[in-house]
Amino acid sequence: MSAGEVPTDAESAARARRAFIDRFGTEPEGVWAAPGRVNVIGEHTDYNDGYVLPVALPHTTRAAVARRTDGRIALASLQGDTGVVELSIDELAPGRPDGWAGYPAGVVEGLKDRLAGGVSLLVDTDVPVGAGLSSSAALTCSVALALSDLVAPGLTRSDLVELARRSENDFVGAPTGILDQSASLLCTAGNALFLDTRERRTEQVPLDLAAAGLELLVVDTGTSHTHADGGYGDRRRECEAAAARLGVPALRDVTDVAGLAALDDGGDGVLLRRARHIVTENARVLEVTDILRGSADPRGIGPVLTAGHASLRNDFQISTPELDACVEAAVRAGAHGARMVGGGFGGSAVVLVDRDRATAVAAAVGERFAREGFVAPRTFDVVPSAGARRIA
Ligand code: GLA
Repeated sequence: MSAGEVPTDAESAARARRAFIDRFGTEPEGVWAAPGRVNVIGEHTDYNDGYVLPVALPHTTRAAVARRTDGRIALASLQGDTGVVELSIDELAPGRPDGWAGYPAGVVEGLKDRLAGGVSLLVDTDVPVGAGLSSSAALTCSVALALSDLVAPGLTRSDLVELARRSENDFVGAPTGILDQSASLLCTAGNALFLDTRERRTEQVPLDLAAAGLELLVVDTGTSHTHADGGYGDRRRECEAAAARLGVPALRDVTDVAGLAALDDGGDGVLLRRARHIVTENARVLEVTDILRGSADPRGIGPVLTAGHASLRNDFQISTPELDACVEAAVRAGAHGARMVGGGFGGSAVVLVDRDRATAVAAAVGERFAREGFVAPRTFDVVPSAGARRIA
C-alpha cells in the first residue's frame, strides 16, 4: 500500500505556479501547501472541549497567491470546471461567493482590512474531497498561511487555526470544531498531534509506524458526507443540551459515565448515548496517547480504535453500512483495529495493520464491498506528514 500519486512539494509548487500564470497572466508571489488529516482517535470531542489525536496526511491543498491593486478578489481552482470566481472585496459576505469559493473567500474576509487592494488566488489539491479527510481545512489553512505570510506576519499558527475555523463556521456556515484546522496547521512529520481543545495545549506524540512494522491504512468508502447537512449540527446541539442538563460547561467536564445518570430519562436515551460517546471517547484519546508516549507495543491501540468505532456506531449513530462493513472485514482479516474517521455519515475509515498483512486486509475489505454491492473503496497508507508550509 502506498500514498502513491502524491506529488513532491516542488512538483506541486511548479504546477500551481504554471496554472496561476495561465489563469491570471502574472507570477504568484508564492505557493503554500496545507495537508488534510486523518484522526487517530477523538471524534466529535473537539466541540465538547475534549481531546483529539490527528496526524497530517501527505496529501495537501496548494494556494498560489498574488496581491492586486483593483480591490477585487479572484478565485480559481484546478479541480472541476469552475472558471474564475471574481467579485469586489467589499461584496464578500457569508454565502457570497458560495460553493468551494466560500472557503478561501471566508479567509480573505477575515483579513480584508489588510487586503484592501484585493487578491488573486489559485488552488489545487490532492486531498480526496468529501472523504472525511478535511479537504475543507486543507483549503482554508493553505490560504490562511499564504495571506498571513503576505500581509499579517504577526499572526501565530493558533491565530490561523481560529481564522480558518471562522471561515468555515461563520462564512460557509459549517458548525465544525477546531480539530481539522489544528491538524493542518500544527501537525509535524513523524508525529501525531495531541490537542486539548479547551486548554489549547498541544503535544507532538511520536508515531513511527514503519519502525513497528505497522501501516495505518485509510479506506475511502466513496460515500460522501457534507457538514453543511444537518446530521453534524444535530449532534452538536444534542451534546450541548446534554451538558446543559448536567449543569456543566461542556461534556469534557464529565470524566466517568457514572456522571451521566441524570440523562437517563427512561425514554430513548438520545442525550445519554451522545454524552456517553463523548465521555468514553475522551478516555480513549488519553489511553491511546499514553500507549504511544510509552514504550509499549503500539499494536495495543488497535482494540481502542475498534471500541471507538462501536461507540460512534451505537451511541453517536453516525456510521454507515459501508463504514461498518469496512471495520468488520478489516478486523476479521487480522487488522489490530479499525474505525470510521471524521464527521460521519460517510467518508473514510482507518485501519491499523501489520505491514505484511496490509495487502490481504485491503483485499478482504474490497471483497466484502463487492459482495455487498458497494462502490469499490480506495485504500492508501498514511505516513504522519508535515503541517502547512510555504513551498515556493
Ligand atoms: C469534522 C469537523 C471537526 C470534528 C470532526 C469529528 O471533521 O470539522 O471539527 O468535529 O468532524 O471529530
